[in-house]
Amino acid sequence: MTDYMLWNHEIVERKAENAMVSFEDRGYQFGDGVYEVIRIYDGKLHALDWHLDRLFYSMEQLAIRAPFSRSEIKQLLKQLTETNKFTADGKLYLQVTRGMQPRDHVYMEELDAIFYATVDCFDQPVEMWEKGVKVTLQEDIRWLRCDIKSLNLLGNVLARTKAQRNGYHEPLFHRDGIVRECGASNFYMIKDGVIHTHPTNNYILGGITRKKVLMFAEELAIPVEEREITVEELQEADECFLTATPLEIVPITQIDHQPIDHNQIGKITKRLQQYYRKRVYDFLE
Ligand SMILES: Cc1ncc(COP(=O)(O)O)c(C=O)c1O
Repeated sequence: MTDYMLWNHEIVERKAENAMVSFEDRGYQFGDGVYEVIRIYDGKLHALDWHLDRLFYSMEQLAIRAPFSRSEIKQLLKQLTETNKFTADGKLYLQVTRGMQPRDHVYMEELDAIFYATVDCFDQPVEMWEKGVKVTLQEDIRWLRCDIKSLNLLGNVLARTKAQRNGYHEPLFHRDGIVRECGASNFYMIKDGVIHTHPTNNYILGGITRKKVLMFAEELAIPVEEREITVEELQEADECFLTATPLEIVPITQIDHQPIDHNQIGKITKRLQQYYRKRVYDFLE
């Protein structure tokens, strides 16, 4: 564990007594808040601007008053890694809750949002990259604003727990017969050399890794179609993979009992993985 954390506008020692939350914090009572997970490579923050774009979007959609300007939070997050003398690979977690008030669904307008951030080591998930993972189809019971990176993750919590208890890495959510995304990652299917993935709208989180993968696919001249994939189409998939900030690109080798590409890692997935590893160092600051 690292020694320092960001608590509101200050870097403090990472101890519970330095970061006390009231029982009337709306994040604690309603999950009324937003968050970001940012990857760190060699002690440097990865794709920081894209993560901050999404954070400000999430706050705006929920009418949470941003407790910092973009330049202030950038500077604070960098100060956090520097104060910790953090030079390894890791993850930064940043959370903003709407603030405190006597419990009431209806939020007051002028609350002061509360935020914190921590950094921790995170090893490259090499085994997952090389062996792939299994996913299991589950009905998507989440709310209809999955584009907001909200703290309120009960649908994901229940689905991921069930999936993992049954030996799968992720649930693969479907709603109205359409494959949406996984419990904490975006989903892709490759068919006849084309990458298919759900369009960014309210049914999925617009992943930062997704954005990079689509950019890298273009650089590699691999065609991409952002469109709705039906559950039936999965039977014809040549390759599948998922993406998330901590994991980068992870091949999917099985969906329930259906092996994908004979439980092998497909050629296009491998090519993207290798390219991603190379390009990742171009997004550091
Ligand atoms: C539901 C969901 N979809 C997709 C993602 C992937 O997003 P990103 O690539 O920004 O980590 C996440 C990441 O936590 C997620 O929770």
